[in-house]
Amino acid sequence: MGYEVEGSDGSAIAVKYASQLAKEEGLRIKFFRSRWEELEKHSRRKFDCVYNDAFAWVTSRESLEASARGIYSVLNKGGKFIFQGAHQWSEDSDKEKLIEEDLKKEGRFQVLAPYEKKGLKLIVLITREKTPEGILGNRIHIIEEKDQMRVEVASVLDMIKWTRQEYVSVLKKAGFREVYSAKENGRGAEPYILNIGVK
Ligand SMILES: C[S@@+](CC[C@H](N)C(=O)[O-])C[C@H]1O[C@@H](n2cnc3c(N)ncnc32)[C@H](O)[C@@H]1O
Repeated sequence: MGYEVEGSDGSAIAVKYASQLAKEEGLRIKFFRSRWEELEKHSRRKFDCVYNDAFAWVTSRESLEASARGIYSVLNKGGKFIFQGAHQWSEDSDKEKLIEEDLKKEGRFQVLAPYEKKGLKLIVLITREKTPEGILGNRIHIIEEKDQMRVEVASVLDMIKWTRQEYVSVLKKAGFREVYSAKENGRGAEPYILNIGVK
């Protein structure tokens, strides 16, 4: 659509595959490796917008503050930081309800559509359970490669931890002058809500 974009992740594997996927889509996008906390050091330029789809999953307050500072450092003045999580219409007491709703939406058991690429076959089975901080997904990956089968297991916590008040205070401390939320119609059936911090 004409935007100039760059992508970044703390994981070398994520950066490697994002690069490949972009090429397969015929897009020339620069990807670089950086933790959000260290963006000032690793980014060669500033941006009008930073979109982060996993800010809500940061586990400690210290790291949430350092990540907000890192993101702030790569924004132009007036630039926007967009992320998901508790928003201006949510109440701090909504957390339990949100966890319940998300679990209902995602389901307690799920088998992902089998995936196959370059001789590798993958089947993923997920069971989900509620915890006080979100939904814990226990994932079993069945991988078939070169006629060998192996199983990898991972537990991933889909965090619903931070309240709206906490996001606002973390972003203000990092220097953002305004934090608000916006409803986005998106491509799915239901609208979703995004948070926006303005530098
Ligand atoms: C839910 S995944 C999303 C990946 C990608 N944005 C996508 O849409 O496919 C979350 C990503 O956040 C990255 N991540 C988590 N904490 C990070 C941090 N502090 N700094 C940089 N990357 C981080 C992980 O490496 C992981 O790739």
